[in-house]
Amino acid sequence: MAKIRKAVFPAAGLGTRFLPATKVIPKEMLPLVDKPLIQYGVEEALGSGVEEIIFITARGKGALEDHFDISYELEKTLEERGKTALLSISRQVSHLTNVVSVRQKQALGLGHAVLTARTVVGDEPFAVILGDDIIDSETPCLKQMIEVYEKYGGAPVIALEEIEGEAISRFGVIAGEEVEPGVYRLTDMVEKPKLEDAPSNLAIIGRYVLTPDVFELIASTDAGVGGEIQITDALRRLAQTRPFYGLKFKGRRYDAGDKMGFLEATVELALKREDMGPAFRQYLKTLPLD
Ligand code: G1P
Repeated sequence: MAKIRKAVFPAAGLGTRFLPATKVIPKEMLPLVDKPLIQYGVEEALGSGVEEIIFITARGKGALEDHFDISYELEKTLEERGKTALLSISRQVSHLTNVVSVRQKQALGLGHAVLTARTVVGDEPFAVILGDDIIDSETPCLKQMIEVYEKYGGAPVIALEEIEGEAISRFGVIAGEEVEPGVYRLTDMVEKPKLEDAPSNLAIIGRYVLTPDVFELIASTDAGVGGEIQITDALRRLAQTRPFYGLKFKGRRYDAGDKMGFLEATVELALKREDMGPAFRQYLKTLPLD
């Protein structure tokens, strides 16, 4: 069975939910505590055995590539000043991985973004990570999914989370049958349904392990919800052609693309940090919260 070696990160969006912060700075570079959003996703991919990181970018997203590159000026200055701890933080990032990036010239939707990676991915299974969905877990979420991919003979797998009430309409939603605890064989899925039309309370979260036949399906998918080429519409057809699974992953997800979710992630991740968690907790306790 082919190993999942490549992860695609759609990152061409305008980040309008975070204006004015994202007027000049890519949304993916907003920091949670002290690491940009994109680095969380990249570290998850690398921690799941991925070897090649593919960014789908657009004009103005150069900072994403620069972040994972060597910064000679910075490193030289830190070296001269004897700031070894800071130097090692900067070097750790530059040595994490090599990055390949592809331009999505038009914002035609998530499906279109993934299709843009076709020539770089080639004819092998691959992962897609949506960097807005930050997942804090013991075992990286993508790794949990790759285990299911391997167990079920190289079948595609998407991440699922139970979402109650109206909020389900912000997600792709699946129909399926539970084949073992937390693993669903998918029969159908629909992008951003109304609550009354949702086929279940299981929402698609931004992690996908896909087989390369998905590219052909995306290429022949018409624009759907919001006038965009939706990955969910292509995946729905994939589910009709081969066994396809969803995994209710173990971990806590934050929607860091949303202001509230971003704040939740900031506070909770800061509290978990060994270096600053205790002091931050003390500070929070002094706030008059009632
Ligand atoms: C995308 C997908 C959707 C999925 C969501 C997860 O939507 O289209 O199916 O549930 O990511 O975050 P977006 O949030 O880009 O509108």
